[in-house]
Amino acid sequence: MRVVEAFRESFGAEPHGVWHAPGRVNLIGEHTDYNGGFVLPFAVPWGVTAAVSPRQDGLVRLRSLQAAGPAVTVEDLRQAEGWTRYVVGVVWALREAGHPVRGADIVIDGDVPRGAGLSSSAALEVAVGLALDELYGLGLSRMEIALAAQKAENDFVGMPCGIMDQAASALGEEGKALFLDCRTLGTRAIPFDLAAHGLRLLIINTGVHHELADGQYARRRQDCESAAARLGVDTLRDVTDLAGALALLSGDERRRVQHVVTENHRVEAVVGLLRAGAVSEIGALLNASHLSLRDQFEVSCPELDVAVEAAIRGRARGARMTGGGFGGSAIALVADDRVEAVRDSVLLAYAERGWAPPEVYPATPAAGARRLT
Ligand code: GLA
Repeated sequence: MRVVEAFRESFGAEPHGVWHAPGRVNLIGEHTDYNGGFVLPFAVPWGVTAAVSPRQDGLVRLRSLQAAGPAVTVEDLRQAEGWTRYVVGVVWALREAGHPVRGADIVIDGDVPRGAGLSSSAALEVAVGLALDELYGLGLSRMEIALAAQKAENDFVGMPCGIMDQAASALGEEGKALFLDCRTLGTRAIPFDLAAHGLRLLIINTGVHHELADGQYARRRQDCESAAARLGVDTLRDVTDLAGALALLSGDERRRVQHVVTENHRVEAVVGLLRAGAVSEIGALLNASHLSLRDQFEVSCPELDVAVEAAIRGRARGARMTGGGFGGSAIALVADDRVEAVRDSVLLAYAERGWAPPEVYPATPAAGARRLT
């Protein structure tokens, strides 16, 4: 394994173990996690592999095969920079929670497609979290590892994300989507066997990442929190009377609530259809989710809209943006015999606008984080 060779080369010893954690796509339930709502992501076959050994002196030495240069040594965690913050943040979060985590030597390798918005950062955090849990005998549950990873991202990196990406990476199962209630943190594995239904789920990687993404994410969160406060509920999950709520709101807050409340219902409907074996019927709900994200939550962008519209023109069963928005990937649910037509339709739409061709490839639900050796 490449990561093991690099570990030997950097640190002159064998790693104690090698761990892998996947990225994710979200089937449906977007911008609902930090509103205490429902999400339905699954782990993808790409992710991050980490070769790790513990160190007793508290130092963290790190190298990534995706970053040039030799291993860097981090003595004061707060001094970490760039991608190393996602790793060091996990050490920090575990120590903050009182766990006896000292140092580590870590080499990282990753194969999550670049710019795809498939949560390579969550994969990195969870791979490291799982490694430290096992090396230091912490006895954490998968959800506790996901929560430590989220804390690293929220309070160390400074990205106010919800729990979806880390939970999908830590708890995903092959062939299944993960239904997660983000208030109770209860989960349920939902069979999502595309092949048995003659279907594929295509990822359309727009390759773009609009600069506003991070600031807009925090603003959407604030809109949701201020709307919840105005409505006198803890989170928008608790809004049961949508019409009544909308009558009390206006402007951005009104649109955000419209999206979040209806999106939660769409997740429940998709779970019901999947459990009934009506997989291709979820397409209409994917389409509705996209329109709601575009018009009510306002987190789409021209590249995502064009991908979704072109996929539908190519007769996808349904399509939507996935993840935080403002770039990254769209997904399309497509019958086996329409895959080429959908791909061609998307490539043509991009070519007509003079945009670089997006990558289009199928994804199936893969296993969550695990120890490899
Ligand atoms: C990003 C965040 C997630 C979630 C999605 C939107 O991926 O990391 O927590 O909020 O956006 O659904």
